This record gives sequence, C-alpha cells and structure tokens, in this order.
Amino acid sequence: MKIFLDTANVDQIREVNSWGILSGVTTNPTLLAKEGREFKSTVKEIAAIVDGPISAEAVSMKKDEIVKEARELSKIADNVVIKIPITPDGLGATKILSSEGIKVNMTLIFSGNQALLAALAGASFVSPFIGRLDDISHDGVQVLSEIINVYQNYDFETEVIAASIRHPLHVLQAAQIGIDIATVPYDVVKKMVKHSLTDIGIEKFLEDWEKVKNYKK
Ligand code: E4P
Repeated sequence: MKIFLDTANVDQIREVNSWGILSGVTTNPTLLAKEGREFKSTVKEIAAIVDGPISAEAVSMKKDEIVKEARELSKIADNVVIKIPITPDGLGATKILSSEGIKVNMTLIFSGNQALLAALAGASFVSPFIGRLDDISHDGVQVLSEIINVYQNYDFETEVIAASIRHPLHVLQAAQIGIDIATVPYDVVKKMVKHSLTDIGIEKFLEDWEKVKNYKK
C-alpha cells in the first residue's frame, strides 16, 4: 500500500517526505484555503518536493470547462493529477482527459457504483471519502471493500485512494482489505508512528546504555 499525505502544507509534506514513506499528495480547495497561499505556485512547490502523484482539484462544473481547466493545471508539473468530482460532466471530462494521457483522480466518491463509473471513464484514481460516510452513520470501510471487490472482478487499472481518513484505525482497516493507497492527514500519520511501548523501550535502552558505555575491557 502507498501512503499519500492529505494536505497542502509544504512544511508537513517536507517533514513526512523525509521519512522515506511518502508516495504522493492530495490537495483540495479546503486544504489550500487553510494555507492562505496562491494555488498554482503551492501545487508547483509540492510537486517539486514529492516524487509521485500530486492531486490538484478542478473547480469548473461544465464538461468543456473542466477539460480546459484540467489541461492548464496539468502544465504545472508532470506529476500533477487532476481531481474531478464525480458528476455526469466530470465523467465526460475524465474520458477526454484520460484519452489525452492526463491523469484524473475522481473525487467525492461515496458508493461502489460511482467508483465503477469513474473506472469506466478512465480515471487513474478514485477517492472514496470514508470518514464522511462514517460521519453520517454509514460504514466507510464497507464501501471501500465493495469498490475493491468490483475492481477485482474486472481487472480495472484504476487505483483506489482511501480518503477522508480520520484516525490510524482507518488506515489499518484500509490496508487489511488491500487498498492501493491511503491519503492520510498529517496528524494521523504522526499518530501511526507512535506507540507508548516504543517510547518506554527507547527510554530504557538509553538509560541502560549510559551504564554500559563506560565499562572498560
Ligand atoms: C481527499 O482527497 C480529500 O482531500 C480529503 O481526504 C477529504 O477529507 P475530509 O473529509 O476530512 O475533508
């Protein structure tokens, strides 16, 4: 499984990238608004830091306008992927863009059927939002499983990104069902590294090393 970071914060991206476990980044207008920076230059900076797909979202709603916007966004860097919400116009635009070699991450996916349509349109990635499903008392991980089952039946090449992740258990559950990618917020990826027994273990080893290090032959 690959880990993407779900943020537009370049400091967070640099930090997690330095751990050697990062394969991509997803942004959206909400995440970019939090940073208070110009959109294209932020995406360009992120794309230069991480060697992997960087999702930038198109905000046009009509097919032709989505295609135009996506073509512009794809010029920012070779590794930019265009996020497009699933709508009839979004599907139509995805079909055109994928035939041009422009990669699409079809977003705001909440059902197996939506994921099926996105794959048929040629999306390179689909992003089911599992946390938002849990928020309304649906089972986000169950929807992920449905999507995995459907894709395996037909050997679709579309990669599934578990998105809207709220806590480390979501990442573990996604990994257990064999998801391709999880896009994880910074605070969640930090929590994934931590374990209190690791901290206690390090403390004890360092304490004991202080006793050992001055022993003579
Ligand atoms: C995915 O690509 C989205 O950016 C993100 O995961 C949405 O998460 P949220 O539901 O926490 O806003």
